[in-house]
Parts: sequence; C-alpha cells; structure tokens
Amino acid sequence: MTPHVKIADTGLSVSRLGLGTVKFGRNEEVKYPESFEIPDDQQVLALLSQAHDAGINLLDTAPAYGSAQQRLGKLVGNNDDWLICSKVGERFANGISEYVYTEAETRQTVENSLRDLKREALDIVLIHSNGDDLHVLQETPVMETLLRLKQEGKIRAAGVSSKTVAGGLLALQHLDVVMCMYNLLETDELPVILAASESDKGIFIKKGLMSGHLDKASQDNPLLASYRHIFAQPGVSSLIVGTINPQHLQQNIDALNTVLAV
Ligand SMILES: NC(=O)c1ccc[n+]([C@@H]2O[C@H](COP(=O)([O-])OP(=O)(O)OC[C@H]3O[C@@H](n4cnc5c(N)ncnc54)[C@H](OP(=O)(O)O)[C@@H]3O)[C@@H](O)[C@H]2O)c1
Repeated sequence: MTPHVKIADTGLSVSRLGLGTVKFGRNEEVKYPESFEIPDDQQVLALLSQAHDAGINLLDTAPAYGSAQQRLGKLVGNNDDWLICSKVGERFANGISEYVYTEAETRQTVENSLRDLKREALDIVLIHSNGDDLHVLQETPVMETLLRLKQEGKIRAAGVSSKTVAGGLLALQHLDVVMCMYNLLETDELPVILAASESDKGIFIKKGLMSGHLDKASQDNPLLASYRHIFAQPGVSSLIVGTINPQHLQQNIDALNTVLAV
C-alpha cells in the first residue's frame, strides 16, 4: 500500500503518490506528447478505484482543468476517503487562461469549488501562480485571503503552485504546501525542496514525469529513474502524476513501491 505523510499541523495525511486530473477534463492548450480523448465516467471511476485500492488518497485538480473538478465532485466529491487539492487564481475558458488574484475572485472560486466538490471544507487549496510568484504572493491579496479562508474553516491547508525558487521559499514561510516542478531534466526548484526538508511543510511535485516526455531522458528506465530522482529528496511529500491509462497508473504505483522499499 502506498505510504502516507503528514502535512504540517493541518491534520491531513496524503499518499506519496497523488493522481493529477488535468486529463480528466481538458484536452486543449495542454503540453502532452499526444492528443487524447477525455475519459468517460466509467473510465474515470475505474482509475479512481484502482488508485484507491493502492492506497492513493490524493487527487489534484483545479477549476482551470476544464470539467475535471466538476466531474470529481460528481463522482467522489462527498467521499472523504479522498483528499482533494484544488486551486485559485486561474480561470480557463475558450482555450484561454486568465489569472485573477483579487479577494473577491479568491473567495468566489473557493465557494464555487465547495459547491462543485460537494464539501463543507476544501482539503487543500493552492494559488495557481502565473509565474511571477513574488508579485502574486506579496503584491496581491490572494495569499492573505486564502489564510483567512483557512481561519474561517473553509479550507484545511493552503499553498501555492509556484514557478520560482524565491516564490517557493517565501511560500514555505507562510503556507502549508508548495507544489513545484522537479524532474530528471528540470531541477531549478531543488532549493525549495531542500528548504522544506527542514520543516514539516508539504511539497507536491508536478510534472515529475516531464508531462509524459520520458523519452527526453537519457536513462535506460526513465520512469524508475524519475521516481528515484524525486524520492531521493526527503523534502518531497507527494508526486502528483497525471494519467488516464490504467497500465501507466499501475507502473507508477509499482515504481513508487520499488523506490520506497529500498
Ligand atoms: N498547478 C499547476 O500549475 C500544474 C501544472 C501542471 C500540472 N499540475 C498537476 O500535476 C499533474 C501532473 O502534471 P502533468 O500531467 O503535466 O505531468 P506528468 O505527471 O509528469 O505527466 C503526465 C503525462 O505522463 C504520462 N504518463 C503517466 N504515467 C506514465 C507512465 N507510467 N509511463 C509513460 N507515460 C506516463 C501521461 O500519459 P497517460 O495518460 O497516457 O498515462 C501524461 O501524458 C497534473 O495532472 C496536475 O494535477 C499542476
């Protein structure tokens, strides 16, 4: 069974492997190697059941992932076996992303997610950065608003999906979770992971399999090499892998168990 790890003082305990859900709801303006059909409800339910059986309890989603969040709400929303990580800050409509970090937008997005996910409180909410992390965190009301929503009991853990070392390090001081990119080819954000290893804050890894471009890595077994590379860092809480392929999901579960067993 996939082991779990605690996130700061939030009371949340997440599996070391999480399931990313972009492909559950969005197939335009994405950077995957191949185009794909969005899976139907039966296919999503089968993937979720397979993940659940392996001990995975973490689902990563966002209002900007097309229909993904609403579908999760419909399929598992009120099942608290699942911890659902949502986002604020990015809207996606008609193929275009827009970033809005006002207090009103942040509050409205959280209310919409509570409704979509059929929850009284959201487990984890991350600020979806536009890349200008320090500006987003220091010059807009989004972080303060998220922390207030946590005090109000509407969310249990707050964090950021960051894109810079400076942003990730700042977020570690104020928030519970930082989601950062780290893989065999892109290691710039390693200082954030190292800093987190000296705290009890959560680190979620996005794009750990290079968004599916595993063939760009030089290793013989790039999948296993990716898992070794990521879990060599004690600061990593969970790797969020996006897949809609049950064989790939099983390979990911097996790779995690192989790497953590050593
Ligand atoms: N907050 C943000 O800004 C942000 C940005 C990007 C991603 N994310 C989150 O992180 C998650 C993961 O990111 P990502 O989807 O970009 O990258 P990823 O997990 O590195 O890669 C996903 C791609 O890898 C393929 N894949 C998965 N397992 C595989 C395996 N065992 N063998 C071969 N290919 C495999 C998937 O294809 P198949 O479906 O065919 O398996 C999919 O195309 C997303 O779903 C999302 O939840 C967040």
